[in-house]
Amino acid sequence: MHVHGRPPPAVDAFTTPAERLHMPIRRARAVLALSAVAVAAATIAVAFNGTASAASTLGASAAERGRYFGTAIAAGRLSNSQYSTIAAREFNMITAENEMKWDATEPQQGRFSYSQGDQIVNFALSRGLKVRGHALAWHAQQPDWARNMSGQALRNAMLNHVTQVATYYRGKIHSWDVVNEAFADGGSGARRDSNLQRTGNDWIEAAFRAARAADPNAKLCYNDYNTDNWNDAKTQAVYRMVQDFKSRGVPIDCVGLQSHFTGGSNYPSNYRTTLSSFAALGVDVQITELDITNANATAYANTVRDCYAVPRCNGITVWGVRDSDSWRSNESPLLFDGSGNKKAAYNSVLSALNEGTPTNPSSPGQSSSQPGNGGGCTATVVPGTVWGDRYNTTVNVSGSTNWIVTVTLTSPQRVSTTWSGTFSWDSSGVVMTVRPNGSGNSFGFTTMMNGNSGARPSVSCRTA
Ligand code: G3I
Repeated sequence: MHVHGRPPPAVDAFTTPAERLHMPIRRARAVLALSAVAVAAATIAVAFNGTASAASTLGASAAERGRYFGTAIAAGRLSNSQYSTIAAREFNMITAENEMKWDATEPQQGRFSYSQGDQIVNFALSRGLKVRGHALAWHAQQPDWARNMSGQALRNAMLNHVTQVATYYRGKIHSWDVVNEAFADGGSGARRDSNLQRTGNDWIEAAFRAARAADPNAKLCYNDYNTDNWNDAKTQAVYRMVQDFKSRGVPIDCVGLQSHFTGGSNYPSNYRTTLSSFAALGVDVQITELDITNANATAYANTVRDCYAVPRCNGITVWGVRDSDSWRSNESPLLFDGSGNKKAAYNSVLSALNEGTPTNPSSPGQSSSQPGNGGGCTATVVPGTVWGDRYNTTVNVSGSTNWIVTVTLTSPQRVSTTWSGTFSWDSSGVVMTVRPNGSGNSFGFTTMMNGNSGARPSVSCRTA
């Protein structure tokens, strides 16, 4: 049963002014002394306001600024402790490099296989990291049975795939690459020819509608490469599609720029224009597969600065952990070398991340501060009292009074008590949706650990 209303006094860490009036004098002095410390701390905070803080990992720095910094992960490498240690330490968003693609998740028609994707999702969520889903509909990495299909049968199979996979992972995915790489390279600005495209030009919007119906809380992205240079015909073509979708109410929330900066596709000087132009259409922008030939440190830092200059550029993902993990390992394009050492590019990225002004600074006693979805509001987790079998969490929402926050627990943890919000759960019992109840922009809940004492909830925010 979920008990609504304020928790018992023992749960609250702070006294009210009325309670202080009735305190014994010694305790009142102690409170006054603590208040003085609090004022001093606030003064220091004001003094430092606007000064860049220096978080020591990529994910922590990004989270303090309401963004994320992620990596692609291969399930088969998770047993390598150097790999998984770096991944968990440095990043707060994880993308499955191959394990959620069509050939992996539906190897035979109607027979779904989630074990490898689950390995990655469990790795992430049990450590409080978020997950980008990649990719529901794509011309490549289709299972043989789908590659041999066409027409209405293929359209139906694709929509069923989108529905099944997005439903299976509902509540666990921050953002989905719903459609990947649907535009042609070169100067035509046309759609890429593929079996999916030949089912009709509306296949992309049909996929987005199916994804929204299956997982209403995930951000839905269109993802592509060679869309970094604002002057390229392909960039313009994707821009026009997103503009059209927004004008017709097709459910799209974000655009992913893969940003594989290779010798043939270098970091463009107008990248910031590209990011801000997409954002101006009313979508989030995410850099989804960043890697740069020989890990040019200047290009990496400029990429971060360009993202941070655009408020709706809410996250950056690099396409792998160490150079040896990269799909183009011969170009050494990542932030860690094959031995797991930080490269010069790592230092330049961390410095550039730390240049941004913190919006969610961590403070003592607040072990985690998490970004919202960037959808017009930010939800910040403030860890509360921990008992042997349960713990409290407060969530503060900023940026909107008309918010919807999704809280995702790790099973078998369950919420037992809630306060200061309107709460509902999905059928899994681990995804809680919270709306304002008129008491303000903060709510709380008690979670029973049920044997899992390590996991903590993740939150995301969007406006209603
Ligand atoms: O797992 C098999 C292994 O059993 C087999 O022995 C080996 C030899 O062929 O192949 C292995 O599978 C490979 C898989 O990566 C895992 O390493 C596939 O052949 C290979 O094609 C696949 O490449 C992936 C590529 O997408 C496929 O299109 C890359 O890892 C992956 O990084 C890459 O990611 C894409 C994004 O999804 C979309 N944007 C471009 C990006 C880079 O191509």
